[in-house]
Amino acid sequence: MPHLFDDVRPEDLRHADSYKWTTHPAEVLPLWVADMDFPVAEEITDALHRRLTRSVGYPQLQGDPALLDLLAARQTARGHPDLPREGMWLLPGVVPGLYASVLGLTGPGEEVLTHTPIYPPFLSAIEDHGRRTRPVPLLQQESGWEIDWGALEDSVTPATRLLLFCSPHNPTGRVWTREELERLGEFALRHRLWVVSDELHADLVLDGEFVSLASLGADIAQRTVTLTGPCKTFNTAGLPIGAAMSANPALIARLQLATRGVMAHPGALSIEMWRAGLTHGERWLGEVLDYLKGNREFLAQELRHNLPEVRFTPPQATYLAWLDFRAFRWSDEAYEFLLREARVGLNNGPTFGPGYQGFLRLNFATSRAVLQEALARIVHAAS
Ligand SMILES: Cc1ncc(COP(=O)(O)O)c(C=O)c1O
Repeated sequence: MPHLFDDVRPEDLRHADSYKWTTHPAEVLPLWVADMDFPVAEEITDALHRRLTRSVGYPQLQGDPALLDLLAARQTARGHPDLPREGMWLLPGVVPGLYASVLGLTGPGEEVLTHTPIYPPFLSAIEDHGRRTRPVPLLQQESGWEIDWGALEDSVTPATRLLLFCSPHNPTGRVWTREELERLGEFALRHRLWVVSDELHADLVLDGEFVSLASLGADIAQRTVTLTGPCKTFNTAGLPIGAAMSANPALIARLQLATRGVMAHPGALSIEMWRAGLTHGERWLGEVLDYLKGNREFLAQELRHNLPEVRFTPPQATYLAWLDFRAFRWSDEAYEFLLREARVGLNNGPTFGPGYQGFLRLNFATSRAVLQEALARIVHAAS
């Protein structure tokens, strides 16, 4: 049966408003920046229209109470201890939360652990202000990407303060198990590290169960800042907003102090959008997840049949596929090669940390037809 998202067409998407669809020449199919090619939920656009019939003066600057209530209820449902209101801070996006966390929880020259490959702003948040990255590469196993526990232990030095953690993980799509998270929590407590758990992709779980790190116990909750936002769930990155939350309000106070005067308050439309998504977004999100599962299956089959040289573990969450093209002789310039020869724009592996030359990230949140065409072009160029 045709699906609403099948109607998504490049000629409509290639609009000046879109970063993804305007960066490359028109004949390139862009499957890179992590937003979806799907239309926003009607429940959200209706709420935005209604919101514009009222004043768009300053919203409640201490944080919209209705939105904070919804977020607190969601975190409680995820097993967090009750969040004190001073432990919740609305942000103008999740990346600002990464930067605020690094600034607030570490000092210049101190070290931050992060599992690579990793969403590139993790690395810039650490390095832009003079902190040092201790990259801990994930292990590429036949079964998928795993934490290298030995390397994690070996990476800690007296200067290590923070673990910047991505859960579910961008770009591998790993959903960490309860056992892995418990082990990670024990590790952080033993080394007295702060933890930032970026859980922006938590609603996009395709297989398995998402477990929030700070739900595992009071001790780890006291050392953790959880970051979240609506932009992946509801495809609303153009209305930036996010939240930093901790059972330990002193951590949030440190983030606030470190960024005093430079952190904008979120906009009225962003607040309205997130409230509408949390209240009425479930139906739309269900359709998106079904469609993404179909695309993931299609992608896996195409690669298995037509490009078996590509190493790939289907993601358990997100709409991102982390593809290993190192078997090809052109893998040293895999990004440039596929842009030039296949006219497909992907994300280049090395931006996700040292050692990922020959890897590419593909965003499959598009229509089946666009995905099919992009894969056909890649197969043709690679053969
Ligand atoms: C793990 C992660 N954190 C943060 C972001 C960006 O969040 P925002 O646009 O709210 O700054 C992304 C976007 O892809 C992401 O994957």
